Amino acid sequence: MLHGPRKPYTIAILLLESGDWWRDWQVEIMGSDINQRVLHTARKGVYKKGSHRATPPHMLKKYFSEEGRGDYRITDGVRRLVSFSYVNLLDPYKTSLIRDLDIVFCRNVIIYFDRDAKKKVIETFYGKLREGGYLLLGHSESLINLSTAFTLRTLRHDMVYQKPLRTGSG
Ligand SMILES: C[S@@+](CC[C@H](N)C(=O)[O-])C[C@H]1O[C@@H](n2cnc3c(N)ncnc32)[C@H](O)[C@@H]1O
Repeated sequence: MLHGPRKPYTIAILLLESGDWWRDWQVEIMGSDINQRVLHTARKGVYKKGSHRATPPHMLKKYFSEEGRGDYRITDGVRRLVSFSYVNLLDPYKTSLIRDLDIVFCRNVIIYFDRDAKKKVIETFYGKLREGGYLLLGHSESLINLSTAFTLRTLRHDMVYQKPLRTGSG
């Protein structure tokens, strides 16, 4: 689950660019937000002229079609990997259908919550992730003083939180 307007498309493009290794998997990238306007913009998948200054031309050509006024629309090949849902992360009823997640991307969302709400959302993510699944927060966010349930892992460029695998004789 990636939170925020159109970042799920970025994840889908990165996956498509990474090769074929995942083609036998059932990949579902779900973006969620509490704001219907944000969701509407995300579902449209249209980027204004100028928002692509950092996108290499060959990527623009591959994953976008040009619309009138110089806007760019995301291609169906990217779109079909992605869906968007209205979710209030603090509402257990809204999150009850979400489960077995491999990765949660949640950037610059919990920074706006008070401590109790932060703890509640992190607990929710923990419950929704599979064992061994990952939680990625924004650069200025951490689980310090919020949760000790995750293991901090250092990747090449980033720090991520991992839900531990259950150990024991089972
Ligand atoms: C600063 S934006 C960050 C968006 C995106 N993650 C990014 O990095 O660009 C925070 C988003 O969190 C959403 N939000 C705030 N409270 C929420 C809640 N309780 N449940 C779900 N989304 C929420 C807001 O609507 C807003 O779109």
